[in-house]
Amino acid sequence: MRLPPLVPQPTQLHPLPGRFTFDDTTALKIAPGAEGAARLLRTLLGPATGLPLPERSDGTVVLALDPALTGLGDEGYGLTIGAEGVLMRAARPQGLLAGIQTLRQLLPVQALHDMPEPGVTWSVPCAQITDTPRFPWRGAMLDVARHFRPVSFLHRYVDLLALHKLNVLHLHLTDDQGWRMPVPAHPRLTEIGGHPHGGAYTRGELTALIRHAAERGVTVVPEIEMPGHVRAALAAYPALGNRPDRTLDVWDRWGVCDTVLGVHDEVLDFCRDVLDEVMDVFPSQYVHVGGEECPTTEWHASPAARRRAAEEGLDGPEALHGWFMERIGGHLLAAGRRPLGWTETGADLPPYFTVMPWLDTAHGRTAARRGHRVVMAPHRTTYLDYPQSARSDEPPGQPGAVVDLRAVHGTDPAPADWSATETAQVLGAQAQLWTEYVPTAAHAEYLTFPRLCALAEVAWTGRGDWNGFLARLRHHRTRLDALGVPRRLPPPPSPPQERKPDE
Ligand code: ACM
Repeated sequence: MRLPPLVPQPTQLHPLPGRFTFDDTTALKIAPGAEGAARLLRTLLGPATGLPLPERSDGTVVLALDPALTGLGDEGYGLTIGAEGVLMRAARPQGLLAGIQTLRQLLPVQALHDMPEPGVTWSVPCAQITDTPRFPWRGAMLDVARHFRPVSFLHRYVDLLALHKLNVLHLHLTDDQGWRMPVPAHPRLTEIGGHPHGGAYTRGELTALIRHAAERGVTVVPEIEMPGHVRAALAAYPALGNRPDRTLDVWDRWGVCDTVLGVHDEVLDFCRDVLDEVMDVFPSQYVHVGGEECPTTEWHASPAARRRAAEEGLDGPEALHGWFMERIGGHLLAAGRRPLGWTETGADLPPYFTVMPWLDTAHGRTAARRGHRVVMAPHRTTYLDYPQSARSDEPPGQPGAVVDLRAVHGTDPAPADWSATETAQVLGAQAQLWTEYVPTAAHAEYLTFPRLCALAEVAWTGRGDWNGFLARLRHHRTRLDALGVPRRLPPPPSPPQERKPDE
């Protein structure tokens, strides 16, 4: 029996004759430590199948954990499906969570529905699978600053990431156009910065999201932009800027804004306060502090900033950027976290930063040579806000490029001509959905899929076979249909919802 195509493709896959059928009598045998995996299996299969999957010591679906298992790493799993039973093994719980997504894809597509599907035989083909990821960082960034999305959308987004064995949701929480992270000591950030594009999260919502994600093997990595992309914060607290006499609005245009944070002590205290709250809410080892697109015009014009540069022995106001990132990075390090930032050259952040090169793949190599850990995010192959085709019926997106499915599939986080030492610095790859041109939830999902499937394949399986991926994607697309991910967008309502950047 042919195996349903899987996305991402497992490392090793051997179809075997026969099928295993789940029914009301099927029970789980759950190893100590595998309880979370069992709960996830029941949660995912429950709505469509109604399978109770109780625990029994003689259960035929075995979720086994053995820390002494070698060769599977932290996230790999082995899955043996025989006609009489299923054995899933991993060294760590995370591996079982990945295996469960495979089992879910092997079931009939109706298993993905959120309503009861009577009359379906819930069987999976027999097979032997051994599966380990190529990279430990398989991410998707979502910009909730430019267009806010309610937390219910983020839960669903996490579910969609997990289906593809992606393990990082990077939340871009603050920018010129909005501030979505509540900070009790600075309530105006969300009171003022939560508008005009719609809202802010509560601490309780973020905590519940982080738990929901963890149950699916996904880490939520927060990003707070500094020292640029902070206009929403400056609208809330003008004293954080370079001209405290000036009041600013939350920006309602797109692009790079030249209002940036000041470099006085009060600003550093503010940033540390905000990051302390972020670290209190988000257990993620990595904390992203932006760092890119920071014009230094205001620092050049500000006597206080020039004085600061001189006092610190810097060459000039440009050098305040590195100085600032050093202060902030040091604060995160001292708290036991890993600072993460966007790099624009591969050599513009302190070496202990993990960096995301976004302009050019070559910056990743520069950064790797400098000893940075690197998560590849080059815009020409991982930015999902660019239109996915040049077709005339494609909705308007970020201008300047088309990033089609093949471009994403062709991205290689560690190209073959990089040295072993350079490659060893690469943690993985990430797709970015900036939302200037993404006004609705359906639009966000339309832009994300199927390109995120290609990113998942690159990051989990590795350098791939394009035709094979396309063939598997045809079936996988029916899974996305079952989950309600739109293939096309409805025509825009009139009057159009789209905000034009310069109107
Ligand atoms: C970026 O695209 N501003 C990282």
